[in-house]
Amino acid sequence: MKLIKYIPFTGITNYCLEYKDNQPVKLYFNDNSINSFQLEIKNGGYVPKSGLFLCKSIVSLVKNKSILEIGTGETGIISIFSSKHGAKSVTATDIDKETVKWARRNGRLNKINNISWLISDKYSKIKGKFDIIVSNPPQLPMVNGSLHDSGGRDGRSIIDQIIIDAKNHLNSDGIIIILVFDFLSTNKQLGKRMTIFNILKSNGFNPSIMTEVKRIIRPDGKTFEALKDIQKYYPKYNFIDNESGDKCYKMQIIRGDLF
Ligand SMILES: C[S@@+](CC[C@H](N)C(=O)[O-])C[C@H]1O[C@@H](n2cnc3c(N)ncnc32)[C@H](O)[C@@H]1O
Repeated sequence: MKLIKYIPFTGITNYCLEYKDNQPVKLYFNDNSINSFQLEIKNGGYVPKSGLFLCKSIVSLVKNKSILEIGTGETGIISIFSSKHGAKSVTATDIDKETVKWARRNGRLNKINNISWLISDKYSKIKGKFDIIVSNPPQLPMVNGSLHDSGGRDGRSIIDQIIIDAKNHLNSDGIIIILVFDFLSTNKQLGKRMTIFNILKSNGFNPSIMTEVKRIIRPDGKTFEALKDIQKYYPKYNFIDNESGDKCYKMQIIRGDLF
């Protein structure tokens, strides 16, 4: 057994990964307080990365709030983090039954009793209204990819639906927080699709970017696989080059406040 500090992005601290036979088996969040938790990583499953970036952005918002998470993933990271940071109640959903089973197991491991785990395609099984809707949705332009990554032909099908139906599931001063990749036209139109900001505006939200971080497109990664389609559907997007000449894009946390 080996315990190694896990810092997926600058400024994300207090996480450690436990390895067994060179495989990650547990992720620990430990800030020496009641907020601490641990998550089992499924054999061959993913270690949350972008999800931790989202957690950092919502830490000051969740206290005493009711939260709906769409696409919780097998670790349940965002929902468990929210519960551990004082959320009043959390509804954690995912379209995939096995995923929900694993996430629920992580909830039990941490003795959490204010999360409802639900199998739901976006809002299909959601009743009631919430203070905050949060999501790190699949958003790569690909059709037959994994549930984790595939956002349909141009990457926007799930994000747009989450935004369009959000108002029906939010209390009057509710907010929506979504992690998006900037090449999908966050606030500048880069292809045929309307910007994500304009979709937010036309559905009753004031949009803003809470924070963003540069990400390298690695040749062995999923974004690299989708590169041709990114260029096809968002031809006006200019990838950023970093100092070493790697192609990069920005991962952004956007927020919509109901007006
Ligand atoms: C990028 S992963 C995010 C997982 C986790 N929240 C995190 O941040 O690490 C996207 C998740 O959305 C789920 N998902 C895909 N399509 C969905 C849909 N139509 N409705 C609900 N969840 C969906 C996938 O199964 C996957 O677990």
